[in-house]
Amino acid sequence: TTTSEFKPGLEGVPATLSSISYVDGQKGLLEYRGISIEQLAEQSTFLETSYLLIWGKLPTKDELADFEHEIRYHRRIKYRIRDMMKCFPETGHPMDALQTSAAALGLFYSRRALDNPDYIRQAVVRLLAKIPTMVAAFKLMRKGNDPVQPRDDLDYSANFLYMLSEKEPDPLAAHVFDVCLTLHAEHTINASTFSAMVTASTLTDPYAVIASAVGTLAGPLHGGANEEVLEMLEEIGSVENVRPYLDNLMEKKAKIMGFGHRVYKVKDPRATILQNLAEQLFEKFGSDQYYQVAVELEKVVQERLGHKGIYANVDFYSGLVYRKLGIPSDLFTPIFAIARVAGWLAHWKEQLVKNRIYRPTQIYTGNHAETYIPIHERN
Ligand code: CMC
Repeated sequence: TTTSEFKPGLEGVPATLSSISYVDGQKGLLEYRGISIEQLAEQSTFLETSYLLIWGKLPTKDELADFEHEIRYHRRIKYRIRDMMKCFPETGHPMDALQTSAAALGLFYSRRALDNPDYIRQAVVRLLAKIPTMVAAFKLMRKGNDPVQPRDDLDYSANFLYMLSEKEPDPLAAHVFDVCLTLHAEHTINASTFSAMVTASTLTDPYAVIASAVGTLAGPLHGGANEEVLEMLEEIGSVENVRPYLDNLMEKKAKIMGFGHRVYKVKDPRATILQNLAEQLFEKFGSDQYYQVAVELEKVVQERLGHKGIYANVDFYSGLVYRKLGIPSDLFTPIFAIARVAGWLAHWKEQLVKNRIYRPTQIYTGNHAETYIPIHERN
C-alpha cells in the first residue's frame, strides 16, 4: 500500500539523520555541531570551522596547524587544469566554470578509496584548498590575464582576496571575508547539500559529489539572491522612495529579494552578523550609498510583513559586504560555493559512515496497457 503522501519540494520530509548543524527557525538559532553561529563568527576562523564541521570536534592547536599547513600546500592547481580553463568561453558564468573545474579534479586524483581515512583527508584538503584558486583563476583568465599564484604566507581568506586582485588585502577586509565564509559554511539539508548526499550515496568520488552540489547551488532559487538585492537597492535609489517602491511591489504581489525563508520566521541570525560586518567595513572604508536605503527597507518590510514571519535573510546584507570588498557580483555565488564546500564535505563524510543509496519512490500518474502504434499510423 502507498502510505506516503507526496510533499512537493519534500517540505518537512527528513532525508537523513545528521549531527552536523541545527536550525531553529522560530528562535533564529543556527548551530554547527552544537556551537552557535554567533560564537563561531566571533571567535573561530573559516578553516577551524570547516574542521569542526567535517571531523565533528574543534581541533587542538596542533591539529589546526597541521590542517592549515596541508591546505596551504595544496592551493596550487595543475597547469593542465589552468590550460583547460583557458578554453572556457569568457562569457561563461563563473559557477559553470567552477562546476567543470571541480569535476576535472577527479581526473587527476580519483582513487575512490573511500574506506581509507587518508584518502578522505586528502580529498577534503584538496577541495578546500583548490576551489578558491579555481574561482580566482577564472576571474582573471576570462579577461585574458594569467592567474595569480597563491601565496603561502597569507592565510586562507587573505590569499583568496589577493588572488582576485593581486593586492594584499587590508586585514579588516580579510577578516570580514573570512567571517562571511564561516556564515555560509553549512545550513542543514538545503538543495545543494541534498544533491551532494544523493551523489555521495552511490559511492562515487568526492570530486563528483562537489561538482553535483556546485551545479545545484548555481540555480537562482538557491544561491545568489544577494545579487538581486543590490539591483533592487539601486532601483529604489533613495530612502524616500522605499515606501512607494514597496507599495508597488506588494500591489503586484512580487517577492522582495533578501526577505523570507522556508525555515526562519524571524530575522536570519546570519543577516544580523552580516549587517554588523557591513557597518565595520563602512566605518573604515566609507559607507555604501545604498546602505541607508537597505536599513529603511528592512524597517518597512518588518512593519508590513513581520506578522507573516518575513524578515531579512542571509542574502540581504551580504551583497553590500561583498561589493565593499571589491568583489564583482557574478562571483557572489562562487564565494557561497567556496564556503559551502565545508558543509558538503561534512555531509559526504557523514553519509559514508552509514551509507545506503538514495532510491526514493514516486506516485505514478501515467497510463497502463497502452498499445504501441507504428509510426506511419500516428497522427
Ligand atoms: N516578499 C514578500 N512576500 C514574501 C516573501 C518575500 N520575500 N517571501 C515569502 N513571502 C510571502 C509569500 O508571498 C507567501 O504569502 P501568502 O501566504 O500570503 O501567499 C508567504 O510569504 C509564504 O511564502 P512562500 O513563497 O510559500 O515561502 P517558501 O518557503 O516557499 O519560500 C523563499 C522561501 C526564500 C524562496 C521566499 O521567501 C523568497 O522567494 N524570498 C525572496 C528570495 C530570497 O531572498 N532568497 C534567498 C533565500 S536565503 C538563501 C538560500 O536559501 O539560498
